Amino acid sequence: MNGLSCFERILFGGELVDKLTPINLSDIGRATIENAPELPTRSEAIQFSDVQLKFPKPHQLNDPHKKAQALHAFANHELLAIEMMACAVLVFAKTHPQEHVLLKSIAGSLKDEQKHFKLYVHRIEELGHQFGDFPLNTFFWNYMRKAATPEAFLAMMSLTFEQANLDFAIFYRDVFRQHGDEITANIMQVVLDDEIKHVAVGSFWLNKWKEDQELFEYYLACLPENLTPNRSKGILINKEVRIQAGLDDNYINKLISYDDNYKLTQRKTWSSRE
Ligand SMILES: [Fe+2]
Ligand SMILES: [Fe+2]
Repeated sequence: MNGLSCFERILFGGELVDKLTPINLSDIGRATIENAPELPTRSEAIQFSDVQLKFPKPHQLNDPHKKAQALHAFANHELLAIEMMACAVLVFAKTHPQEHVLLKSIAGSLKDEQKHFKLYVHRIEELGHQFGDFPLNTFFWNYMRKAATPEAFLAMMSLTFEQANLDFAIFYRDVFRQHGDEITANIMQVVLDDEIKHVAVGSFWLNKWKEDQELFEYYLACLPENLTPNRSKGILINKEVRIQAGLDDNYINKLISYDDNYKLTQRKTWSSRE
């Protein structure tokens, strides 16, 4: 994979070492692609699977095997985010080459996702497992080809998946803490602190582009087809972290009261995102 930009290597290299290629900001614009591929390249050991495992219940998360399974699902979300952000940098460098600051922000979040992935995988190994031991789904990626513009990408990634991750990181941090596992609780806190910054990337750019529309209306208009704003909320909706991420009361209240046919009751755990 020599000679490729870091973003190409992450997207088209199949090994974990490729996915963890250090980010070099001067690679932005060095290579571009027209569209997102159908799927990112993955070697046999980390290949996608249709098999769905039941996500462990909070009370089961003191069991090392169940805990490894949960952290494996979180690590897969990080890996998908890594691949999607690399893809976004490659596509938008082609379609929006003038948006260099935006591309740098996405690359900055990508770097954090690599850090999160490594933290989870290290913990999974301490629990006696390896990344690839459990089935890996394509869930986040399924929206990637529908998010062909920067505003659609940020509505999907920052203001939906990463925004929900704020609530999930708090929820599972507290679950692990209740089980006396400070090591895993601390990982969730590191992820939370970074995700607040990633959501801020989305709120900053969408606020900039929305002109005289309300942010929530603009966000709705940008969201890729079949993606509901209810996906941007976790089990318990935390207002404070959203304010830290630059979202205002008006947006947050509209999000909280937003209701469509999607049932929040289906989402007792992280697994129901899939
Ligand atoms: Fe992350
Ligand atoms: Fe993130």
